[in-house]
Amino acid sequence: MSPQSAKKKPAPKRASKTKRSAAKRRAAATPENNAKPKLYASLVVQLRSLLKGEHDFIANAANFSALLFNSLPNVNWAGFYFLQGDELVLGPFQGNPACVRLPMGRGVCGVAAKQCETIIVPNVHEFPGHIACDVASNSEIVVPLFDGERLLGVLDLDSPTIGRFDDQDAEGLNELVTVFVAHEEGLGL
Ligand code: SME
Repeated sequence: MSPQSAKKKPAPKRASKTKRSAAKRRAAATPENNAKPKLYASLVVQLRSLLKGEHDFIANAANFSALLFNSLPNVNWAGFYFLQGDELVLGPFQGNPACVRLPMGRGVCGVAAKQCETIIVPNVHEFPGHIACDVASNSEIVVPLFDGERLLGVLDLDSPTIGRFDDQDAEGLNELVTVFVAHEEGLGL
């Protein structure tokens, strides 16, 4: 399977705090607020190890979603939707069975894909047009995947905890997605 291309999009916008320099982030780090960056740094190492030498896109996406689902606390769904035409179609994931097709521009995934930016939703019940796939989900983060400027799809994580995701999650997940796409690009995605 190969995600279909979309027309050229602007470079992805990132959550505002993810623009801070690495030096500033290190300076601001305390044992309490450094836990997530450390976890994500560990996940980058584990993801690289899982991807190493493997060229199957679905297998790699499946292992990536399993890594996230089993390593991140308070997550009840983690997986991919890939762009096909003007829809996002369900890809490898972990969690309950989910909606298969999401229109561009609708729901959290569709809006993140259309706007080409990471979206953090502290309370999905307050997000206009949220598409409920799992009644247990109360918060959500969606990170678009790009091959250069070409939109490939989105990574979607749900949590039963209100306000589960923050800028540190956005930054960590964007780094993981970058590692994943760079690996697949090297294989001729
Ligand atoms: N809630 C998403 C739909 C996908 S599920 O959460 C797995 C949305 O509103 O786009």
